[in-house]
Amino acid sequence: MKDNPESGDLHVAIIMDGNGRWAQKRGKPRLFGHHAGARRVSEVLEACPDLGVKYLTIFAFSTENWKRTQSEVAGLMSLFRRYIEREAHRLAEKGVRVRFIGDRVRLDQKLVKLMDDLEALTEGNDLVHLTIALNYGSRDEVARATRRLAQDVAAGRLAPGDVDEETLPRYLDTCLLPDPDLVIRTSGEARISNFLLWQSAYAEYEFVDTLWPDFSAAEFVKVVGRYHQRERRFGAVPG
Ligand code: IPE
Ligand code: IPE
Ligand code: MG
Repeated sequence: MKDNPESGDLHVAIIMDGNGRWAQKRGKPRLFGHHAGARRVSEVLEACPDLGVKYLTIFAFSTENWKRTQSEVAGLMSLFRRYIEREAHRLAEKGVRVRFIGDRVRLDQKLVKLMDDLEALTEGNDLVHLTIALNYGSRDEVARATRRLAQDVAAGRLAPGDVDEETLPRYLDTCLLPDPDLVIRTSGEARISNFLLWQSAYAEYEFVDTLWPDFSAAEFVKVVGRYHQRERRFGAVPG
């Protein structure tokens, strides 16, 4: 059964995993896989409007990914910078609104400036909302949100009794986004790795074996098609 066949406002979130293994299989350095992975983003993004996917959220770098070698982290950070520089105008022209979620404090100032500028450049767009999770971790996000919420309580702006399921998400990085309807993880791993824990409480999940650099628009179309065959109940008995 379709969830909401009329809905043109699906939110799909993707854990883009498997770049390293893709490169390794080809005897190349891990960074080669990250570059190939970055190229897939545009393809999947372009498929969104026809599929009714209004929100696409992609996991680019987690709060745990700092544990990787210094050279991989530096390579990824420079890839993010170059990706924004190269794609900014194309994204703006195509009607994509870009947002970043995650903690910017630990990121290089040059990168943060590019992120801010891209958000500002695409602010008026509404065709597809692309959210890039960069230095993002759900637990970190909830901790930062709780800190700000506690500050509001301490300052008398919020009563403790008013904190409920509606209040807390307003403090999350995703406050302007609907909850994801579908979360896809590539590369065969069946775990969430600290991605959108609060927001995905009722999301549907698809774990596919394909490594991210091999994930084509055609496969994306198939996976979204499977989502439409699912019955979402949200705790109720189907009527
Ligand atoms: C996902 O690919 C990209 C990032 C985490 C930045 P990986 O780099 O995790 O690739 P695998 O899982 O090692 O194959
Ligand atoms: C999740 O992938 C993070 C991103 C895709 C950016 P990881 O490769 O970091 O996750 P684990 O380590 O397999 O859980
Ligand atoms: Mg991985």
